[in-house]
Amino acid sequence: MGFILAAAGSAIGLGNIWRFPYVAGESGGGAFLILYLGMVFTIGFSVMLGELAIGRAARRNPVGAFAALKGGAWTYVGYMGVLAGFVILSYYSVIGGWTLAYTWATLGPLLENTDTGELGAYFSDFIADPTQTIAYHGLFMAITIAIVMGGIEKGIERAAKFLMPVLFVMLVALCIRALTLPGAWAGVEFFVIPDWSRVNTETVNAALSQAFFSLSLGMGALLTYGSYLSRSERLPSVAMWVTSLDTVIALLAGFLILPAVFAFGYDPAAGPGLTFVTLPAVFAKMPGGGLFGPVFFALLSVAAITSAVSLLETVVAYAIDETSSNRKPATLAMGVVVFFIGVPSALSFGPWSDFKLFGKTFLDLMDYLASNLLLPFGGIAIAVFVGWAVSQRMMTEVFGGATLPARVWLWMLRTVAPAAIIWILISGL
Ligand code: TRP
Repeated sequence: MGFILAAAGSAIGLGNIWRFPYVAGESGGGAFLILYLGMVFTIGFSVMLGELAIGRAARRNPVGAFAALKGGAWTYVGYMGVLAGFVILSYYSVIGGWTLAYTWATLGPLLENTDTGELGAYFSDFIADPTQTIAYHGLFMAITIAIVMGGIEKGIERAAKFLMPVLFVMLVALCIRALTLPGAWAGVEFFVIPDWSRVNTETVNAALSQAFFSLSLGMGALLTYGSYLSRSERLPSVAMWVTSLDTVIALLAGFLILPAVFAFGYDPAAGPGLTFVTLPAVFAKMPGGGLFGPVFFALLSVAAITSAVSLLETVVAYAIDETSSNRKPATLAMGVVVFFIGVPSALSFGPWSDFKLFGKTFLDLMDYLASNLLLPFGGIAIAVFVGWAVSQRMMTEVFGGATLPARVWLWMLRTVAPAAIIWILISGL
């Protein structure tokens, strides 16, 4: 139970509530949803099980685990994971900072405003202000560093156990409010009715990237968590729980944000600001919304922090194991490096907004590099590693032997997952 909540704490975060609705909005809604669900429960679930198994079998950080189980070039898969951890956390923390800021913002200036034009302007002004975005990014990193320094089990697990269910209840309440707004139904139709003409390689690519990002796969975060897991735990049920909880939260966020987008006449393809612009409008339409808003953003910050903790923990576990440093200095050093890598992302909607590469801002570029390239590559490597390089040991680790479910799982990892990911990556390029 404690482990499922910790792993779900890693998976459930900004990916579900900030990233999922806007990517679904950009990708045309319904068809994206079906592609996403399909990938989560086939490739996603199998790779998650593989990551947990590698971690628990090796009882090490990603680099150490690949080195210990096979060595050779496989060790670089671990390094790629650690690199992805740096990259993702650097901009994840910037968005986490937005969430912290909105906890106070919804207390005051945003109260009772349902005009998405004004809310959008407020958001654009806020993310363009370098002092605020850097300060909140720093605050978010400081909290994450403090928690990882103290060891992840004590504080964060206990807090998550209590706060995540509260977040869930609030999401349900918000969903009900959003769905009963006049005009909300168009959002539901957009979200669930597939428009297959919108499907192209970009949509498929977006669905795969979102699946990896949301489930925390492809960089060794769940591998690291798996290394702390006891032998008595049944990995398939752990993986199924985490996959399902993560999906439920993403669906709730979709049924909250997209109906609100349509009810308030906003553009579903508006991009990363979607959640931040539409949620305050939903709060304003709720009795007691002035209290609801800050509490919701506070809980979303907690969900973001439990995810950030898993990202930093992966990098720190590597530093501790492989350079035999102590937890506290290692955490501080890694955290400070991540903070500095994140600064250009924090500036990317303000002073650095003119800097564009391939039409993307620095933050978008980091997200693209990590989610669309590093994570899927990591996913292929994990699938091939488990499926071909150490398959006997992994079957025993997870299923106790070559049972039928074990064979189905291996077949997924040997053929379906790598072939699908490679095809998606190549067509994306
Ligand atoms: N899954 C988290 C979210 O949805 C983010 C995250 C945490 C992550 N650890 C990760 C993403 C490892 C990729 C890899 O917010």
